[in-house]
Amino acid sequence: MEPLVLKTDSAVSQLFFTPSFDEMGEKLRDLLPQNRRIVAIADRKVDALYGHFFPYEKISVFADEGEKTMETVLCITRRLMELGAGRDTFLLGIGGGITTDICGFVASIYKRGVGFGFVPTTLLSMVDAAIGGKNGVNVDGYKNMLGTINQPRFVIACPCFLSSFSKSDICKSVPELLKTCLISGKHFDEVAGLFRRMDFSGSVESEELLGYIREAVEVKCEVVAADERESGRRRILNLGHTFAHALERCTENRLSHGEAVGIGLVLAAKNGGAERVAGRIAAALGQLDLPTQIPEYVGISELNRAVLQDKKNSGSHLNLVVIDEAGTLSFRQKSVVELLWK
Ligand SMILES: NC(=O)c1ccc[n+]([C@@H]2O[C@H](COP(=O)([O-])OP(=O)(O)OC[C@H]3O[C@@H](n4cnc5c(N)ncnc54)[C@H](O)[C@@H]3O)[C@@H](O)[C@H]2O)c1
Repeated sequence: MEPLVLKTDSAVSQLFFTPSFDEMGEKLRDLLPQNRRIVAIADRKVDALYGHFFPYEKISVFADEGEKTMETVLCITRRLMELGAGRDTFLLGIGGGITTDICGFVASIYKRGVGFGFVPTTLLSMVDAAIGGKNGVNVDGYKNMLGTINQPRFVIACPCFLSSFSKSDICKSVPELLKTCLISGKHFDEVAGLFRRMDFSGSVESEELLGYIREAVEVKCEVVAADERESGRRRILNLGHTFAHALERCTENRLSHGEAVGIGLVLAAKNGGAERVAGRIAAALGQLDLPTQIPEYVGISELNRAVLQDKKNSGSHLNLVVIDEAGTLSFRQKSVVELLWK
């Protein structure tokens, strides 16, 4: 499958889609810089399953939202120093969005910046987290409070990694893919249908899935290429995320990022006055056994407090992306009291 190139004012990033582990390994060997020290920042679970594909010095991370912190960044930094890693070291992030976010952040600040590339291993990181250069860590449970925008040299997406997930775990990533469908206005029903039908015993390597992954990456790249620093259009990619980040904080990550984004999409439609669209999104999520409403145990005042920490706020106004009844996305300012959580 044809690679994509993400060209921004600051960098050129190459994005590859490989249907087999063999091709992923071959591509990786081509892309990693020769005669440079390679250190992999690898998700511990992924390393146990697939470590044999990555014969490099490794620093393993525990991929838990509570570990996406400065403490982990400092641990990795100290380990790199112990290894004697210099400015010519190349970091390879291998794992889901937690690992690639941490790796991208460390690479951006270690010795004022070293080169890095990603092999995303979750659906969510293939279609979203590994693409576009945002990285960072949480502070006191608030999402991505510290971070940079810095593009990886390359990303290699290989859906074969998904075969170690259960169907229910893989479905937790689907809301980020549905978000892209809502942005592009394409393939929402087809993507939802694909995951509803899918039997994950082997069929994850399907061409159809790889096609949708590539299409989602293409949509993200178009937006990021036009507005890397998020001064305008890139804010569209935050669809559902203002709600999702508050939910992740208030549920102490009992909802995964993807599950929270799913509820956030429903709320983006409700807050745009689009009850019918909200119903359509909720139906698609429900058919994948994903949550569609805020959990009973979370209080609205708690959510309102959390949402005020959102990075996109201006003063006490929330800058939201909402969906209207025609399915059109737009930016809207709301105060906290105007927010609909149900
Ligand atoms: N930088 C961005 O633009 C961006 C965009 C979206 C999300 N994110 C971030 O991404 C994070 C969520 O990422 P995620 O959902 O990809 O996953 P994750 O990194 O949270 O991983 C989820 C779980 O899957 C395991 N895992 C990873 N790959 C596996 C595999 N192939 N087989 C079996 N288990 C595997 C991990 O160990 C972990 O237990 C959040 O922190 C979110 O904020 C970042």
